[in-house]
Amino acid sequence: MTLPREALVEAAERWGTPLYVTDLDRAAANAHAWRTALPGALVAYAVKANPDQALLDRLAGEGFGFEVVGPIELALAERAGCPPERMVVNGVGQADADLRDALATGALVNAESLGALETLVSAPSRGRIGLRINPALDAATHPHLATGSAGAKFGIALDEIPAALERLGDPPASIGAHIGSAIADPGPYRMLASVLASLAERSGAERIDIGGGFGGKPEAFASAIREHLAETGRLIVEPGRSVVADAGWLVTRVVRVQARGHIVADAGMTELLRPMLYGARHPVTLLAGGAPIAERSWTLSGPVCEAGDVLARELDLGTDAGEGALLAIGEAGAYGLAMASGYNGRLRPAQAVIDGGELRLSRRRETLSDVIGRDA
Ligand code: LLP
Repeated sequence: MTLPREALVEAAERWGTPLYVTDLDRAAANAHAWRTALPGALVAYAVKANPDQALLDRLAGEGFGFEVVGPIELALAERAGCPPERMVVNGVGQADADLRDALATGALVNAESLGALETLVSAPSRGRIGLRINPALDAATHPHLATGSAGAKFGIALDEIPAALERLGDPPASIGAHIGSAIADPGPYRMLASVLASLAERSGAERIDIGGGFGGKPEAFASAIREHLAETGRLIVEPGRSVVADAGWLVTRVVRVQARGHIVADAGMTELLRPMLYGARHPVTLLAGGAPIAERSWTLSGPVCEAGDVLARELDLGTDAGEGALLAIGEAGAYGLAMASGYNGRLRPAQAVIDGGELRLSRRRETLSDVIGRDA
């Protein structure tokens, strides 16, 4: 993905740093690639990856659905204009009231446990109830990102499925699973498709939900899935990262340099937690030079009072990446702003979007009054 260098520099000038910039045109193109790869399938973008409202508005406007967890993501998706037919609700620890409310909207609500299923079946409103199963399938990824293994908390266990189907009475509106995230190999999706195909046959499920987790472009994953699930019109996919990761940047300015090897930026773990939490590597590009620095291998650190507050290691950004330099951290569109925190008194950055080639602000920077406004 080419870097929209000029737009990022202009955005930093207009709204300051740190700043998230999401290219809606690129994200929409990524979502369309899923539609092309799986014709007729419901492409339900996973809101948790990046809940920027302008992004949700754009995707809803182009006919995509949403995968949501909990009442707030559901409300954001509704606010974007997504109709209930295109909404998939997941979550392993949803409160009874939230499950019932979600069902009443007409969305597809997946039960992830026999307890949640009981709540849904006994709810006053009839609705579309799906089953999210645990396929006992290990996908190679970071251990924090593996959700389909037998010991994980997610989904109805294979040996609980007969009881679940009996309690449901009617065929499930959907049967599906989500096996993890940042999975680079399509192999586990071939296995998942085979498990779901036979469960769908056995249960008479209307739709088959493959979940998300794709660590790459759709084509290879789609062809692995189609080997066992050729009828793509019945499918639901829930991609998050593969829609937004390469469509977003965290723009940050160098504040200080420690000659012993640290470039300290005005963004850190509070704006992009992934390097610290998963050892994730994000590309760093110099957008505009600052003060001179020595030629050496640098660590890009954040301003937070934690020794692990590191954004990237072994960086060589040239000799003008000192104080005042402007940097873009790439592959930050997924789980960047989504996982931002206020630790250390950090105000959540502003969010800008590129929409039809034009820059605009989609959320202003948090202020002190936002932070203290709820104090009793
Ligand atoms: N569907 C369900 C039920 C999910 O739990 C998730 C992500 C997705 C879809 C979308 O997965 P994706 O296509 O984005 O991989 N914070 C981590 C990622 C956690 C993913 C959680 N579930 C990270 O920064 O890598």
